[in-house]
Amino acid sequence: MKVLVFGSLNLDHVYQVDHFVQPGETMTSLALNLFCGGKGLNQSIAFAKSGMETYHAGAVGREDSDLLIEALKEAGVHTEWIQKKAGPSGHAIIQTTPDGENCILLYGGANQSLMEEDVDSVLSHFSEGDVLVLQNEINQLPCIMEKAKAIGMTMVLNPSPADENLSRLPVSSADYLILNEVEGAVISKASVSDEDGIFRELMKRFPDTRIVLTLGEKGSVYGYKDKICRQPACPAKVVDTTAAGDTFTGFFMGSLLRGSSVEEALWTASAAASIAVSRHGASSSIPTWDEVENFAGK
Ligand code: RIB
Repeated sequence: MKVLVFGSLNLDHVYQVDHFVQPGETMTSLALNLFCGGKGLNQSIAFAKSGMETYHAGAVGREDSDLLIEALKEAGVHTEWIQKKAGPSGHAIIQTTPDGENCILLYGGANQSLMEEDVDSVLSHFSEGDVLVLQNEINQLPCIMEKAKAIGMTMVLNPSPADENLSRLPVSSADYLILNEVEGAVISKASVSDEDGIFRELMKRFPDTRIVLTLGEKGSVYGYKDKICRQPACPAKVVDTTAAGDTFTGFFMGSLLRGSSVEEALWTASAAASIAVSRHGASSSIPTWDEVENFAGK
């Protein structure tokens, strides 16, 4: 069984700031670092580090993407299905504060340039039982979901970030829906502060989909049919929350696909995310399987 992450690749320009820049304010940042990111790339690296054979598909700029491809290769991710396009790769402008909060401004670049024939050519290499992982940072998502369903791939949807494109996605065709309370509120139409309401509504609307709702420092909850499991967040010294959700998704699914129970997979994902938030950067903060296994909270 192969894992295909069809998703974004971004060059993350991370500015350390005292506070997020305000409307009308000009502010000097304390430091600038360049990291490899994009929810797709981060999740590919998390799947690979959790021990899965992982393929990344997506699009990058021909001229500026060596760093992104190298980061994937270094983590053991197969990169042959990544398309190289004219124009720039996607990038993100990220502000991080001393308490580890971030805000992210995205430029889609090549991530938004996929054609239907790109989708066909990638999916022709996968078959029934292979796992497809999607986020919401590339174009062609409805087309990818429809074609992957027809092949019989297991579909994992992390509908992040939450934007107007979500209403066009056939969410009920996903086998796993892994999302935070902001995305959950958009999809369920419940209030973002009503976490129980979000979870109940998602369970009701998507009865054939396994739901994993992440709640930051309140942990996470899994639901499918009559089974509901809750996992408190593992303790962490937070320096940068970028890619915590991506790390959670990769390690939850990686752990399940390796044969763990839902309870074990939730713990593994939670420990992996808590290690990620204690480090700077996106993909660079994702731990190895051994680091997660040795995490002191087990
Ligand atoms: O989830 C974190 C990621 O979101 C960053 O790496 C950034 O590129 C944005 O896609």
